[in-house]
Amino acid sequence: MTALDVVVMAAGKGTRMRSRIPKVLHRLAGRALIQHVLDTAAGLQARRVVVVTGHGAAQVEDALAQSAQASALAAPQFARQEPQLGTGHAVQQAVPLLPDDGVTLILNGDVPLIETATLRALLELCGGETLALLTVDMPDPAGYGRIVRNGAEVRAIVEHKDADEQQRKIREVYTGVMALPNRLLKRWLARLNNDNAQGEYYLTDIVKMAVADGSDVAAVKTDDKIQVDGVNSPVQLAELERAFQLRQARQLMEQGVRIADPARFDVRGRLQCAQDVEIDVNCVFEGVVALGEGVTIGANCVIANANIGAGAVVHPFTHIDGEKAGVKVGEDARIGPFARLRPGADLGPEVHIGNFVEIKNSTLARGAKANHLAYLGDSVVGERVNYGAGAITANYDGANKHRTVIEDDVHVGSNCVLVAPVTIGRGGTVGAGSVITRDTPAQALSIARGKQVSIANWKRPKKVKLPPIPGPG
Ligand code: UD1
Ligand code: CA
Repeated sequence: MTALDVVVMAAGKGTRMRSRIPKVLHRLAGRALIQHVLDTAAGLQARRVVVVTGHGAAQVEDALAQSAQASALAAPQFARQEPQLGTGHAVQQAVPLLPDDGVTLILNGDVPLIETATLRALLELCGGETLALLTVDMPDPAGYGRIVRNGAEVRAIVEHKDADEQQRKIREVYTGVMALPNRLLKRWLARLNNDNAQGEYYLTDIVKMAVADGSDVAAVKTDDKIQVDGVNSPVQLAELERAFQLRQARQLMEQGVRIADPARFDVRGRLQCAQDVEIDVNCVFEGVVALGEGVTIGANCVIANANIGAGAVVHPFTHIDGEKAGVKVGEDARIGPFARLRPGADLGPEVHIGNFVEIKNSTLARGAKANHLAYLGDSVVGERVNYGAGAITANYDGANKHRTVIEDDVHVGSNCVLVAPVTIGRGGTVGAGSVITRDTPAQALSIARGKQVSIANWKRPKKVKLPPIPGPG
């Protein structure tokens, strides 16, 4: 196999995004545009990957170095292009980083949905020998470089602004993706000039040079426009986002997932679904989410980095975010509506979490219930515990977090504060409104609140008018 190098062009300004953020860092499905390109390229096991940066170079380089670190992958190498004098000039900046042997694949940082299989086909066509171009038929080719052929043979790419009337009628355009031997790339790049309508060094001029040198030029046409569409504006970004989401939805539906409306469904990461999963409208999945067999997700849920066990029901408007620690929901659990599960929430089977209940870094054993308006943080909750409305664990003393242990079969009344560290003994009951600061014995009723008094024949005060406050001076 010929060694493969990848050059990703990402120095352009992206004026039409009208944003301070460099274009290639705008996100599609939760990942930077250029990250999509790099992740796809990673599937090709390249010898090296070089990103050409220019506008917002430091920001782009930082972002890519960070995400490489986060995923424990090698960061790409960077070549700066300042100023930006065209695509040929961009690739010239990468040349010092490219060995003389092998093949280079050139990609665009703002074309996020190119697929590995398409690139493999192009590399096959290149075969370590030939300049291979990826082309596409555009219904409206204005602005693109036209593929000029003589019969079947490719003769040149002519940029829109340099094209004559006849050439502008050509619908087959260059996608911005090519592969060729490093040896030839270097030879032809050295010969580029900027003698054209835009005064730029066009990478596409190397096609003419190949023809002049008697070198073969091959082209493969894709019929999947989405894969070669670039992002230049927020409108195009939203269009590609939706196209991508529809693709993901379709794949899941083909595996049997029932999605109420694929047009209102978003996966920004990876979603794994077992059999008979149902997902209602407007749900967003982020990071890595796994849904077990028969899981039902209600409308308007946002679920990130979580594992939802078989048979669990997540009612509408639930927010689950496991971040790094993850969230686990046990089999046949009932969550929501309006529940919030935070990192380290580990719920056993048949646990019920109701509306406006927040769980963070807590383990709940089988059948525990917290159905209304409650907070459990840094706690260990036993089986069948009933945690009343408005109860909270006071787990933070302003400096440190402390643990609350609620043993099996405890009932915590409404509006209790369990001041951690504290243990509520097995089978115990905590009276409503209690502030519990010391451990409670098993089976006991523990009450810690002001005693009720009733004052007979209480007369409410009469209304009197407050005298005005005298002004200054
Ligand atoms: C280029 C092609 C054109 C093709 C089109 C497909 C050339 C001369 N033309 O058009 O044939 O149909 O792509 O989209 O190559 N970039 C740099 N440095 C620069 C200029 C551009 O890094 O100096 C990067 C941009 O960030 C972008 C990519 O190169 O990722 C393409 O640039 P863009 O201006 O969009 O393409 P065109 O030159 O218009
Ligand atoms: Ca341009």
